[in-house]
Order: sequence, then structure tokens, then C-alpha cells
Amino acid sequence: MSVQNEMIRRITVPQIRDRKGGEPIVSLTSYHAHTAAIVDQHADFILVGDSLGMVMHGMQSTVGVPIELMIVHGQAVVRGTKRALIVVDMPFGTYEESPNMAFRNAAKIMKETQCQAVKLEGGARMAETIKFLVERGIPVMAHIGLTPQSTNVMGGFKTQGRDEETWNMHIADAKAVAEAGAFAVVVEGVMEPLADQITAAIDIPTIGIGASKNCDGQILVLEDMLGLNPWVPKFVKKYGALGPAIEDAVAQYADEVKSRAFPGPENVYNNKK
Ligand code: KIV
Repeated sequence: MSVQNEMIRRITVPQIRDRKGGEPIVSLTSYHAHTAAIVDQHADFILVGDSLGMVMHGMQSTVGVPIELMIVHGQAVVRGTKRALIVVDMPFGTYEESPNMAFRNAAKIMKETQCQAVKLEGGARMAETIKFLVERGIPVMAHIGLTPQSTNVMGGFKTQGRDEETWNMHIADAKAVAEAGAFAVVVEGVMEPLADQITAAIDIPTIGIGASKNCDGQILVLEDMLGLNPWVPKFVKKYGALGPAIEDAVAQYADEVKSRAFPGPENVYNNKK
């Protein structure tokens, strides 16, 4: 599984930035080596998102995710991949306080995982921090619109831009992160025409999730699009039905254990063979 000793040539940050207005950028989340190795064959970048707190660890939101968890999953994804650019999320509370704090934690994530970039949430309010990080060698993907780490302020996972009067604020956020040096920006959970205006307003790629097909790329949470979660938001298209497939397999295993059909002769070590 580990590809650590192979010559690794990944898609680079400038290559992603140069895809503005070009071939759509394909991205998915991954949290562990096996799934990342599969995603690696098709995705331009893989995000080790802090959604792992909810998807993998049963948390109610991403607010409680510690940096150590991001590092452990980031290491697994880097080990399992060799082609895609790997971006690791900075979790809540590790970057908002000051650019210095953000640098310390972003550098820790990059050194310990060997990822190529970090992602952080927030628009204009994070511009100074993004500039500070980029000037010091840390590529930053921004994240605007519905920012899950602010769910307590927003009162839930709420689609942004329903009120057209807020559109200028979201467009200003996009411009601020682009001007600060972000190489791409995730645009999450916004009205489609707003997403289109954001994409037209900035010269870095927009990566849509619950946004618009006209974004420069798309991202989904892998487990959601594979059909592992029984409930998913409207913007997720299920490309698989892994939840029911796993349930069928587990039920069949349980039946065969109970009936002693498993292990069969081919599953045991027997000197007669
Ligand atoms: O944490 C995450 O998975 C994300 C994506 C939804 C963009 O931020």
C-alpha cells in the first residue's frame, strides 16, 4: 500500500491554479490510505477534510476536530497516494486567532503529513492570514459560502446567498482570498447564480460543493457520493450504494458464522491440502 519509496510526481499547486477556466478540476475527500489510493487515480486533488470528524468519528459538527486527527488521517492519505495534490484542512481553533498561530499550525500539518497545501475557512476576515502563510511558503486553499466551522454562528448548515442583498459580501470574500494569494477557493452551499458570479469575479479556480456546474471544479465528500451515509444533502449525487452493500455482506457473514458455513475448507489451513 505505501508508495513512500517510489518516485512521486504529484500535480502541483500552480497546475491547479492554472486550470482557471479550463478543464474542470476533479476532487474528492479521503481520510484513509485505501480509499485515497483509488481516488488518486481520478482526482486532481484530494482533500483530507475536517468533515472526517462527522463522517469517521460520529461528531455532530466539525468544531470538535483536533489537529492531531487531521495529521493522522493526512499521513494515511499521503502514504496511499502518488499523483493527486493533497490538501489538509486546518481545523477550528488552529488558525483564526492570528497569522502567527496559523503559520505554526499549518507548518506542523505540512511537516508531519507531507501534504502540499492547507485549507482554511473564511473570506475577507482571513485574507491577512492567507497572505502571511503564502508569503512564507504555505499554499492555501480558501473556503467561503457555507463554512461548516461557523455552524454555531450561522444557526446550522444553511445555504448562503438566499437573500440577494448578501451577494456582494460573498463576492467580496472571494476577491479578498484571491487577492491574498489563495490558489483556489472552495465555494460551498451557495445559490447557483451567486456561485456563477463568484467564479466570474476572480482569477483563481472555484471548487464547488452545492454551488454550480460552472465552477472551475467540483468536490464531494467521498462517503456521501459512495452512498455510505443514509442521509445526504440535496447537492450530493450518490454514485454508489456502499451502505446497503456493506449491510448485505455483514448480514451474510453473520448468517454463515451462525450456520458454520464460514470458514469453509478453502479458508482454513489443513495439511491434507
Ligand atoms: O471538510 C470537508 O470535507 C470540506 C469539503 C466539504 C469541502 O471542507
